[in-house]
Amino acid sequence: MSTLPRKIIFDTDPGVDDAMALYYALAHPDLDVVGITTTFGNVYVEQAATNALYLSALAGRQIPVTVGMSQPLVKKPETPPDYIHGADGLGNLPQRLATQGELDPRSSAQFIVDMARQFPGEITLVAVGPLGNLATALQLAPELPKLVREVVLMGGAVLESGNVSPVAEANIWNDPHAADAVFTAGWPLTMVGLDVTHQVILPLSLFRQIAEHHQHLATDTLCHAVAFYSAFYSAHDAVVGQINGCYGHDVLAFVVLTDPELFTLQSGRVRVAVDGLAQGQTIMQRKAVSYPQHGWHDDIPHTQVCMRVQAEACKAVIEATLMRDWMEKPLLALIL
Ligand code: RIB
Ligand code: CA
Repeated sequence: MSTLPRKIIFDTDPGVDDAMALYYALAHPDLDVVGITTTFGNVYVEQAATNALYLSALAGRQIPVTVGMSQPLVKKPETPPDYIHGADGLGNLPQRLATQGELDPRSSAQFIVDMARQFPGEITLVAVGPLGNLATALQLAPELPKLVREVVLMGGAVLESGNVSPVAEANIWNDPHAADAVFTAGWPLTMVGLDVTHQVILPLSLFRQIAEHHQHLATDTLCHAVAFYSAFYSAHDAVVGQINGCYGHDVLAFVVLTDPELFTLQSGRVRVAVDGLAQGQTIMQRKAVSYPQHGWHDDIPHTQVCMRVQAEACKAVIEATLMRDWMEKPLLALIL
C-alpha cells in the first residue's frame, strides 16, 4: 500500500460544514485534494464554485474547481437553505477580498471521469452534497467503479431520524435518484450519515481558538461562517444549544479516512426511496438474509455504513488537524 497522500476529489456544495471539511483535508498530511467538484445544495451551484475557489485561495492553494449539477436529476429543485448557511453559503461574509483563481472549464462529472482515467485506482471521491455529479459521471463512464479507489459520502441515516423529513437526510433528499445510482454502482462505498454526524457536536469556541491560533484570513472566514451556522443549530436543537455549537457533518467524511478506528461500520445493501412519503430515506438491509423482492436481489452491492463514532476522539482529531501549520499566504489578485 502506498504511503503517499491519498488523492482526493472533493465533491461539495459549500456550505459551512463543507468549508470545515475542505480545510480539514487541506490541513491533513495524508490527504491531497487534487480537485474540487461543486454542485447545488446548500447554495446554487455558481455560488458553490465561487466559494470553493475563494476558500482555497484564502488558504493559498491552487486547486482545480469545476461547476457541476445545478439541479436534481429528476425531482424539482428547491430553494437553498440560506437560514442555515447564509445566502452566500459562508454565513453572509461582510466582505470578500479579490482572490486569484479561475474555474476549470469542464463539468464536475467530466472532471471526475478524466481524473479517474488519468490515475486509475488512485482517486478517492469524497462527496458531501447531493450526488448528481457522481451519478452523471457514472453515466459518462460506466467503468468508473473499477477506476476509482473508493467513495466516501456524507449523507443518509439508518437508525437516526432525518434532518429534512422524519426519514430523509438533506443530501439524499436533494437528489434521491442520483443517490440510489451511487449506492448501487458497485464501487467500494462508505456512508457517513446522521447516525454518526449527530454524535459529534463541535463548539463555536473551537473555531474561535483555531482562528486565534492562526491569525489568518482563512480561519477567520471559517470562524465567521461557523458562528452563523452555530446560531442556527443552537436555536433549533436543544442539545447543540447547550454548548453553542453545530454538527460538523461533512468533515466526518474525511475523518473516517484518516482515523477509521474511531468508527464502527456495518456492511449491507442500501437503497434510496425516490418518491412518496419516504422520499430520500436510505433503507439499509441489516440482516444477512436473501430477499427475493425487486430491488433487494443478492447482486445489489454492499455499502459500509458508519453506525457509531467515538465522538470525543473525533473532535480531538479535528482540533489537532486544524491547529497544524498548514496554510500558505492567501492568493490575492493584483488590483491595478
Ligand atoms: O445533512 C447534512 C448535509 O447537508 C451536509 O452535507 C450539509 O453541508 C448539507 O448539505
Ligand atoms: Ca455539504
